[in-house]
Amino acid sequence: MDKFVIRGGNPLLGTVRISGAKNSALPCMAAAILTEDEVTLENVPQVRDIETERRLLVSMGAEVELGYGRAQHRTTISCHSLSDPVAKYEIVKTMRASSLVLGPLIARAGIARVAMPGGCAIGGRPIDLHIKGLEKMGATITQEHGYLEARAERLKGAHLVFERITVTGTEDLLMAAVLAEGETLMENCAREPEVQDLAALLTAMGAKIKGAGTSTIRVQGVQRLHGARHRINPDRIEAGTFLIAGAITGGDLMVANCNPAHLGAVIAKLQETGVRVDILGPDTVRVRADGRLRAADISTEEYPGFPTDMQAQYMALATLSEGVSAVKENIFENRFMHVQELVRMGANIKVDGSTAIVRGPARLSAAAVMCSDLRASASLVLAALVADGESILDRVYHMDRGYERIEEKLRGVGAQIRRMGNIFTPKEEELVAG
Ligand code: EPU
Repeated sequence: MDKFVIRGGNPLLGTVRISGAKNSALPCMAAAILTEDEVTLENVPQVRDIETERRLLVSMGAEVELGYGRAQHRTTISCHSLSDPVAKYEIVKTMRASSLVLGPLIARAGIARVAMPGGCAIGGRPIDLHIKGLEKMGATITQEHGYLEARAERLKGAHLVFERITVTGTEDLLMAAVLAEGETLMENCAREPEVQDLAALLTAMGAKIKGAGTSTIRVQGVQRLHGARHRINPDRIEAGTFLIAGAITGGDLMVANCNPAHLGAVIAKLQETGVRVDILGPDTVRVRADGRLRAADISTEEYPGFPTDMQAQYMALATLSEGVSAVKENIFENRFMHVQELVRMGANIKVDGSTAIVRGPARLSAAAVMCSDLRASASLVLAALVADGESILDRVYHMDRGYERIEEKLRGVGAQIRRMGNIFTPKEEELVAG
């Protein structure tokens, strides 16, 4: 299993370019199921979750070409024939976002068999809200042998009110609604930029959608969708992670190719800690810090609040801030797996229910640590970049699920990081879902 070896202490200087958003690319790839024509996506990040989704679509009979490098991270998907509308457990268990195919499969094929995702490292993560919505649209859903089977000759538009805000739930039902008969009114929807990105692709495919990006979405169902070409948004979580990397190392970093408008809560919080952040035009943010940081509390919320996907990275920064920072996690019940590893590196953190109390500044010292999930891994990389000595991060396959060539990007701006590769390959059961 690959490890990262990181020697801390270098300020990050220079420019880093942000890749496309994994959490936009995943639903957009699933949206290709909705048409017989070809869908071309650009700016698709080269990360393991995208490869998993490719395998998922191919296992259902789709043709998927992933082209990187000179092909500009372009993916072409043709779901001309869907011979096997099944999302198999072997794939779903390694990536929970696989349940995103449920809505489009039933809308296109009238039938879907999707393995129930289990829990994952960060919480239970049920999909009951996806199921309730599809049932309201007329689907019959049964559950047997760990699989959901959904059937509907043609879904019918409905009035859906989400009991709780869910990102992939909003995306799944949006994809179901675009081919349903009549109008669907969705309330209490997720407002994340990834929902807007998906809606932009669906609209380019001929869907009639109003209000994506707000909490009320109205969809007028159409008979069929056609192929389209779409460019995926920059990854706001990767961008936020690099902003913290610049700040935590006392560096001067240009984060290019990002969308500053999607980073409002993170930028505001960094400014509160005393970090200098300047927006330099439509796609570049400059971050500068001089090593002195002030404590500031965060509380994770749905967009446009502070993202849960940045909580672990922010906590690494908070360990170095002067004073007490309260980090409250409101979205997932178990997203503090990084705490014990940060403590092993010298951080002073106490967890009380859904709040972590971080006292700083700590002097972080290098250690051998274990990555438990994608964003926890990012938090440990950030801590290792400032720790005294050489840290070894185990299980970096978690990082590879969502960060494209992170070690190359970090090395490019002055970090001392190398990958010790292929010591042995992870066993499948070690690749937990996220
Ligand atoms: N929830 C339910 N029932 C449902 C769906 C969700 O109770 O049917 C609960 C969840 O258990 C959770 C909360 O609602 O407590 C919010 O979950 P949500 O459905 O919004 O999460 P998700 O759609 O499964 C996406 C991202 C996550 C990100 C969350 C929150 C993708 C593929 N994943 O997950 O990204 O943390 O939204 O913003 O878009 C990551 O990239 O590291 C990651 C975990």
